[in-house]
Amino acid sequence: MSRSKRKLDHIRHALNRDEIAVNSFDEMEIVHQSLTDIHWDYISLQTQLGELSLSSPLFVNAMTGGGGEKTEVINRDLAIAAKETGIALAVGSQMSAINDAQEKRSYQIVREENPNGVIFANIGSEATVDQALQAVHMIEANALQIHLNVLQELIMPEGDRDFSDRLQRIESIVKHIDVPVIVKEVGYGMSMETARQLREVGISYFDVAGYGGTNFSKVENKRRKQPFRAFDQWGIPTAISIAEVKASVPECHVIASGGMRNGLDGAKAFVLGAEAFGMAGHLLRTLMKEDVETLIDEINHIHHEFKIAMMLLGVTEPVSLKGKPHIYAGRMKAWLDQRL
Ligand code: FNR
Repeated sequence: MSRSKRKLDHIRHALNRDEIAVNSFDEMEIVHQSLTDIHWDYISLQTQLGELSLSSPLFVNAMTGGGGEKTEVINRDLAIAAKETGIALAVGSQMSAINDAQEKRSYQIVREENPNGVIFANIGSEATVDQALQAVHMIEANALQIHLNVLQELIMPEGDRDFSDRLQRIESIVKHIDVPVIVKEVGYGMSMETARQLREVGISYFDVAGYGGTNFSKVENKRRKQPFRAFDQWGIPTAISIAEVKASVPECHVIASGGMRNGLDGAKAFVLGAEAFGMAGHLLRTLMKEDVETLIDEINHIHHEFKIAMMLLGVTEPVSLKGKPHIYAGRMKAWLDQRL
């Protein structure tokens, strides 16, 4: 199967899932406070993610590109929505465009539509330093995401089977790239051990992309005659993964993603120590089922929800949410009691 066809399949399968009803953020509650001493107008969404200055804690996480005209239109619309709402945006894996110049267009449209926006490039961990440089250069990216997707590759019939030199590749990329390098998962979450290994080779930005949202085991299983259903529930739930990574590399920048549903999930992630939150599936579904105006309204709504949480907790900047009183229960409590 061609890479373009596979990308369109991913979009189709990701769209066909129901909205996320329950996830790990439901096992965490922020403790309500009855007094607040700030004025709504002083609440700012301005967010500092390490070296990156963002006008919002929310960003569109990596999804697509390289699937011809269809993905070009999707990327153009995502870029328009990102520009209108002032949020950052990650493009999908650029490996196809690195190998085939004709595919570049569907990525470069994002920079054309949003010349001054914050845009993340995206490559797989199999990339070389030269390919990483090409990806950044292709869209004048402000940061580079490297995705880790071992289980997805293993379930894909045509997926990679050799991961023997991935950490060394990541190490050489981070040494040679002068924009921030974010290592991300794709929906299975990141453990404290993985974060520590990555930290040792120089990574300081981690996007946990945890379990609870888009599920590539299910997506890839739909494309198999004999599915590996046993792995449909594999992965570290997002809220748990944030807590793990933050505990293991407290000095680093943790990004929350994987099944984020609304601004309150985003605020909870910040309470746990995240410094930005990404959404992929939910925003793509909003765009594809409705239109770009509805997507813009939805992003503004998520901002509004995030600000309500800030107001309730009496903070004027997102970073001050960190450590606000909260409790966790159920599986999240059981997990963290054994791991932290
Ligand atoms: C993705 N994701 C993804 N991630 C990545 O690093 N490179 C990629 O090319 C893609 N491609 C892709 C396509 C589609 C259609 C979807 C829905 C997702 C994964 C994405 O960035 C994110 O990590 C997960 O989807 C989990 O977040 P959500 O979807 O639960 O918000």
